[in-house]
Formats: sequence, C-alpha cells, structure tokens
Amino acid sequence: MADTGAGFGIRDSGFTTLDLGLEARDSGLGARDSGLETALVSLGSITRIPEGQGRCYVVGAEEIAVFRQRDGRLFATQNRCPHRQGPLAEGVIGSGQVICPLHSHRFELEDGSGSEHGECLKVYTVDVRKGELFVRLDSGRKAC
Ligand code: FES
Repeated sequence: MADTGAGFGIRDSGFTTLDLGLEARDSGLGARDSGLETALVSLGSITRIPEGQGRCYVVGAEEIAVFRQRDGRLFATQNRCPHRQGPLAEGVIGSGQVICPLHSHRFELEDGSGSEHGECLKVYTVDVRKGELFVRLDSGRKAC
C-alpha cells in the first residue's frame, strides 16, 4: 500500500481505502444542515479516476464504485454486483451504464436499475469541488 500523504492509502488492486474518521468533513455541500457531518466523505483527487473508468473506494464497511464517464459525468454506486458480487468498478462504462465484468448484467448509473428482474444497485450522490471528489454516504438509495 502506498502512502499518499493525505491520510489514506492506495492498494495496488486499484481499491482506495479511506479512514472514515479522518477523511469525513464538511465541504459546504449540505451535510452540516442534516447533522450528518460524517456522511460527506472526501475521496481525494478526481484525477485518480481516468476518464471512461471506475474506481472502488472502501469507506468504512462499504465498497463504493465511482465512475467517470468520458463526457465528464460522475456516478457512484455500490461496488458489488447484486448477481454474484462482481466488482462493478472494473466493468465497462458508457452511455450512463456499467456492464458487470463477470456476467455482463447492465445497470443504469443514474438510478441503479438493472437489466435483470429484481437486480438493482444502491446509488450515491457524488460531486467534485476544486478537483476533490466527495460522496454522500447518507444519500445511498436503491431502485428496487
Ligand atoms: S456477478 Fe455481475 S453479472 Fe454476475
């Protein structure tokens, strides 16, 4: 694991592990109003995610996949596929969808709805401020 000097490390697997207690902060995105200051988490620089790819961040007990489309749109979902736990951050993305790398089930990144009956993803609100990526843990919601 490489020390980034920012209080968290990056594993060679491409997963980023965050120490929630150290990284959670108020960025002015509204967490202060909800009283859930720890729900807004910095994931570091947006440049860690190349355009057209996804990255998995381990935040507390949750694996969150953040996707950066080539058109600049950002999405965040649970990382594990509801079918058989495939790593969605390693899937193919485009046109607002991710295709699971294991069995090619598709999911809409906007709302988490899936191509297979009864399968959907938890989605999160994600934003960038001054080049820094933030996810709201309390925003997680499922389409099914
Ligand atoms: S594990 Fe994702 S489609 Fe099977």
